[in-house]
This record gives sequence, C-alpha cells and structure tokens, in this order.
Amino acid sequence: MLSINQLQEKSSNLQDRSWPPVNKFQGFSGLIKDFLYLDVTQQYEILAKSRDNSEEHGKFIHESLGLIYAYVLGYEDSPCYITTNEELEIKLQQLKIVLERELMNYWLDIPVIPQQLNQGEAVDYLNKKILDNSGVYHELFDYIATKASKTSVITFLQNEVIRNEVVDDEVALLVKGLQGLLKKVVASNLWDECGRGKLNDFHTYWLRMLLEELNGWNQLSDYRKLTSPWYAKITSNSFNMLLTRPGYKYMAYGAFLIFESWVHPHFERIIAGLKRVGIDQEDLSIYFTAHLAIDQYHTRELLAGIANQEPRLNQAEVDQILLGSHLAIAAGTAQYGRMLSYLSTLK
Ligand SMILES: [Fe+2]
Ligand SMILES: [Fe+2]
Repeated sequence: MLSINQLQEKSSNLQDRSWPPVNKFQGFSGLIKDFLYLDVTQQYEILAKSRDNSEEHGKFIHESLGLIYAYVLGYEDSPCYITTNEELEIKLQQLKIVLERELMNYWLDIPVIPQQLNQGEAVDYLNKKILDNSGVYHELFDYIATKASKTSVITFLQNEVIRNEVVDDEVALLVKGLQGLLKKVVASNLWDECGRGKLNDFHTYWLRMLLEELNGWNQLSDYRKLTSPWYAKITSNSFNMLLTRPGYKYMAYGAFLIFESWVHPHFERIIAGLKRVGIDQEDLSIYFTAHLAIDQYHTRELLAGIANQEPRLNQAEVDQILLGSHLAIAAGTAQYGRMLSYLSTLK
C-alpha cells in the first residue's frame, strides 16, 4: 500500500518528460500501408514468397510488428494514440496475427525442447540452460567491453533504451493469466520495476537519467527516425508476441526467465565498456549497476516460482515454459549477431 505522502512526492526534474521517449506516429510506410489492407490469404502468400531472403523478410516482419506493438501499448507512436479507429484496428489486429505466425513458424529458428520433462526436471533443465546458451556469453558483449569505439558504445546505449523503455509494461502484461506463485513472482517483479512506490526508483527512471547524462534526448529521437536498425526490435517483438497472445502465456514466462538471466553477464560487460570509453558517470551507469544484483535475484525467483507452483503444471504448460526459453535464446542470438556486425562498422 502507498501512503498518501508518497503520492504527494515532489517530482524530480526528469519526471516532467513524457515517457517512453518515442516520436509521434508519422504515418505508415508505403510497403506496410499496401500490405495492411490485403486479405489474409494474400498476406500469407506474399510472406511465403519473401522467405528466401531472410534479411528482407525479417526487416518487414520486425518493422511492421514494431508498429503494431506501438499500437498495442498505446503511447504517442501508436497510429491510434488516445483514439479509436475500427476499420484500421481490425486490419492491425489481423496483420498482428499474420505476422506473429510468420515470426513464430518461419523466421525464428527455435530449437526443439526436451520431451516429457516434469515440473522439477524442467527447473533442473532451465537452471543449466541459463548458464549455457548461445546468448549468455555472446561476443557482442565482449566487443562492447573490450573493443567498441565510444560512438559504438553510445549507439548501443540508444538501442538499450529502446529495448528497455517499456519493460514495466511488459512485466505488467506478463502478470495476466497467471495464478498462484507464478503471479506472486511476476507481480513482485512489477513492483520492483515501478520503484517499490518511488518514482525516482522506477527502473525506467534510471533510463531517463542515462539519457539526461548523455545529453541524448534529441539524438534518440533522430536516431529512431533515421537510423535505428530493424534487428534492434527482435527480442522486444518476440516477447511482445508472447505477452499479447493469450495462448502463449507460459511461453512468455519462460522467455522472461532467459532475459532476466542474461542481465548480469551482459551488464557486467556493458559496464566495463562504459568505463573503458570514459562514460561511466554514476547517473549514466546506474541502470546497469543497479540491475546486476536485482536481476540475478529475479532469475532465482522466477525459477523458484516454477519449482513450487501449485497446482502442479501439466505437460503442455511445462513444455510452453521450455519453448519460451528456447524462443528467447533464438531471438536474442538473432539480434546480437546483427547488432555486432552493425556496431563494428561504426567508427
Ligand atoms: Fe528492471
Ligand atoms: Fe528484473
């Protein structure tokens, strides 16, 4: 419970900025606009034909899904910001399902899961999996730690803000449809994300501090408009797909476990990179330093939630958690490899 005093909390200077720091919706690109009003069969056919070119295929899927999740979350970059438009929304919802099918079945390369694990065996499997997978020690993060130029590190930070700017919404979406211990764990995680009642401790507030310290508010706006690469959206889009399709809710939990388990190994390397290029002021790096301990704990909580959930999870539910973890690894690995190639080209 919050005390009324907490609601009279004097807001600090960064709270008066609107968040997330997105640009207003600027209209659909020609390609998406044409595609949006086709019928489902035509959409499937066109997507099927474009599968030969994985990069073009991925670019279209992820740019379009990025726009659709902006609509789902309803901030200023949504085509329906504080308004409704039945004709358009029906088409957006249709496109969402068409593209999610494509992402899940054809674009992401998700390794098969072990068969017939029970709840306890699944936890043992996940305990090992979080220590050994293709994303946890991805060379992208060694590159940030040891080699990336200052420009590359700053570009990487812009993408980190984009990737994490609505993480509290993502956790909020994860709460729905879970019961018992799983809900308790995720609700507690959401309370942490929301600063345990203090605006200045919202995890997104630390991203505000990062942008302020970098003097990066305007640059981020331009970067989004002009340069932000489509593959920076792979993990967010994949996670938002799971979060907004009720039938994937246990997959979302499994994916979140992987994302949380990656934070410590990734952020250690990011912090080393910030120090190396001389941008490790406390206000700038707090987002990363604070998360080192928090997300190790969140990972343990998420695993304990699965281990002790009652009623016991049935086979389909266990399998979904495992598949979600594999999906997250596939999505992260697809994103990190492309990000590494891109950042390596920046001087
Ligand atoms: Fe967080
Ligand atoms: Fe967390």
